[in-house]
Amino acid sequence: MYLTYPALSALLTLSNAQPLLSVMSANPSLTEFTAVLKKYPIIIEQIGTAGGVTFFAPQNGARGLKELTQLVNGPDAPKQQDSIQRLLSYHTVRGMNSAASIKEGVTFAETYAEGFARNSSGDSGEMKVQLIKEGKKVFLITGLSEKSDVTETDIKFDGGIIHLIDGVLRVPQSPITTANAAGLDFFTKIIAAYNLTYTLESAKNVTLFAPTNVAFTAATTIISGSSSIELVRLLTYHVARGTGYSTDLKDRESLPTVQGGNLIVKITNGQISVNDAKVVRSDLLTNNGVIHVVDKVLVP
Ligand SMILES: *[C@@H]1O[C@H](CO)[C@@H](O)[C@H](O)[C@H]1NC(C)=O
Ligand SMILES: *[C@@H]1O[C@H](CO)[C@@H](O)[C@H](O)[C@H]1NC(C)=O
Ligand SMILES: *[C@@H]1O[C@H](CO)[C@@H](O)[C@H](O)[C@H]1NC(C)=O
Repeated sequence: MYLTYPALSALLTLSNAQPLLSVMSANPSLTEFTAVLKKYPIIIEQIGTAGGVTFFAPQNGARGLKELTQLVNGPDAPKQQDSIQRLLSYHTVRGMNSAASIKEGVTFAETYAEGFARNSSGDSGEMKVQLIKEGKKVFLITGLSEKSDVTETDIKFDGGIIHLIDGVLRVPQSPITTANAAGLDFFTKIIAAYNLTYTLESAKNVTLFAPTNVAFTAATTIISGSSSIELVRLLTYHVARGTGYSTDLKDRESLPTVQGGNLIVKITNGQISVNDAKVVRSDLLTNNGVIHVVDKVLVP
C-alpha cells in the first residue's frame, strides 16, 4: 500500500523535530516565555542554527518570568536590549544534554552568553551555569547562587533539546555584587578602601579567593601592621588568573595571581585549600570568573 502525499508528510512531521518556535508555541506550559522569546528573533536564530544545544525554558509562572515579561514589553526594553539578549543566551547551553546524558554530580556547562568584565569587550569567554544531577533530580545554580529546578526534560526540537525550569536563570553579576550578596562585606569594603574595585571588576577570567568576615577579623594584626602598598599586594594575592571552578582545581596546582606570586592548591578528601586556607564555599559564579570563599586571609 502506498501512502498518499498528505499522509506521508504527516509521518515525516512526526519523525522530524520541529523548529524551536513551533515546538515552544505548541507547548501549553511555555506560552509566557514564548511571547518573550518572539521579541528577540536574533536569539531564536542563534539557538536554531547552533547545531546541538540545550535550551532551558522557564515554564509559565516561573520565578522572575512576570518581571521579564514586563521588562521586554516596557519602555526600558530598547535600553536593556543587550542585557536581555545576554539573559536569553545564558539559557542556552552548548551540546545536547539529555536528562540521561547529564552526569551525576556537578558540571559547569558553557552557555552562549559571553562574560562581561567591567569596561571591557570581547575575549572574556562564555559564562557557565552550574548543572547538578542528584539521582533523578536535575537543577541549576546560576548568578548569586540562585537555584532553578528542571521540571520537565527532553522536549526535542530541530537543533536541540528543551528542558523546562521553574525560574528564569540569573546571569552572574560582578564580583563585588556577588561577594556582597554572599555576606562577604569586609572583603568588599577593604577592596573599595584600597581602590581595587575597578581592578577586580575589569579583570577577565579570574578566580577570586574571598576571605570570610571572620577571617578578616582574625587578621586584624596583619592588616593594621601593613602599609598601603603591602595591603594592595596582599589583596591582589587573592585574585588568581584564569577561571578555576572547583572541578578544575587540582591537588598541588600552582595558581598565578595578579599580585605576582602563586597560590598552591591542596585537595585532601575532597576538601580544597589554597596555601593554608580552606575553601568553605565554592563556585560563586561571576561575570568575569568565579569566587571561592576561604577561611583565612592569604598572606603573600
Ligand atoms: C568605564 O566605562 C565608562 C562608560 O563606559 C567610562 O565613563 C569610564 O571612564 C570607564 N572607566 C575606566 C577606568 O576606563
Ligand atoms: C578567557 O577565557 C576564554 C575561554 O577559556 C578565552 O577564550 C579567552 O581568551 C580568555 N580571555 C582572557 C583575556 O584571558
Ligand atoms: C583611593 O583613591 C582616592 C581618590 O583617587 C585617593 O584619595 C585615596 O588616597 C586612594 N586610597 C588609597 C588607599 O590608595
